Amino acid sequence: MKNTVLAFSRLNPAVIERLQAHVELIVPGADGGDVEAQFAAALPRAHGLLGVGRRLGRANLQAAEQLQVISSISVGYDNYELDYLNERGILLTNTPDVLTESTADLGFALLMSAARRVAELDAWTKAGQWQRTVDPSLFGCDVHGKTLGIIGLGNIGAAIARRGRFGFNMPVLYSGNSRKPALEQELGAQYRGLDALLAEADFVCIVVPLSAQTRQLIGRRELALMKPGAILVNIARGAVLDEAALIEALQQGRIRGAGLDVYEQEPLRDSPLFAMGQVVTLPHIGSATHETRQAMADRAVDNLLAALAGERPRDLVNPQVWRGV
Ligand code: DGY
Repeated sequence: MKNTVLAFSRLNPAVIERLQAHVELIVPGADGGDVEAQFAAALPRAHGLLGVGRRLGRANLQAAEQLQVISSISVGYDNYELDYLNERGILLTNTPDVLTESTADLGFALLMSAARRVAELDAWTKAGQWQRTVDPSLFGCDVHGKTLGIIGLGNIGAAIARRGRFGFNMPVLYSGNSRKPALEQELGAQYRGLDALLAEADFVCIVVPLSAQTRQLIGRRELALMKPGAILVNIARGAVLDEAALIEALQQGRIRGAGLDVYEQEPLRDSPLFAMGQVVTLPHIGSATHETRQAMADRAVDNLLAALAGERPRDLVNPQVWRGV
């Protein structure tokens, strides 16, 4: 008998077709019905869950008695209650590597856009405000040659650092839990404690995963350490940053601007950030290119099918649960 897989986000037709060849696939809402009701009804017979963007843990997985694996179509896995999955022996997989370069592209786009006021001046031009040569009050700041500070020099952090170092001749600083000698050599990157990095960098990019350690890592005290002309970019998770403290720092002109892809509450609505020209707000699209989202979905399906076939999935987040066959 085929295993049952329950999707918890939209899947593209190619992914659906591939899955249907191997499993009984349930995509709640595909028939126009109520997504939540169909998800809840199918949960007790699901052997696998596949998707992104839903919190899954003790509060909502009690009924999932058959569940063997959750395959997340994301690199981040802060949406899943890992302790509970471990307790239940449920495998969790993610999709690292395939999104590294596109997410770094987006990080750098935010940095460039905030520095050169691309989004703000695009809106200004389209609003018909361009009457004569632009006034210095609309000038941006240089990117090339400025100091780039990366908080979390993992794969994505390193890919951003490469863009800065080799594309824009930027000295690179980084902070994090451990030194990265190979990247120090490749990029000429220098390690700093967080406070020193914040004080020295012209651009600060947050690229750490969300964990108990990194929640609210950047708050009022940390923002006060940044240079007045500095720009903050967050492509990690909203909860790594105290958003109210950021808004305050921006309102008081204590930093120049920000490029944000992630927020404490998503979707972001009615935020004071919307009124700030010096802030670029994007709707959590770090990996949102056709090519990358397809690669992530393919990788997630590989992980899911491997796990359901009793094979160790390539991207196992909780190897301690793996018992093999
Ligand atoms: C990821 O892959 O973690 C993206 O941020 C989407 O959640």
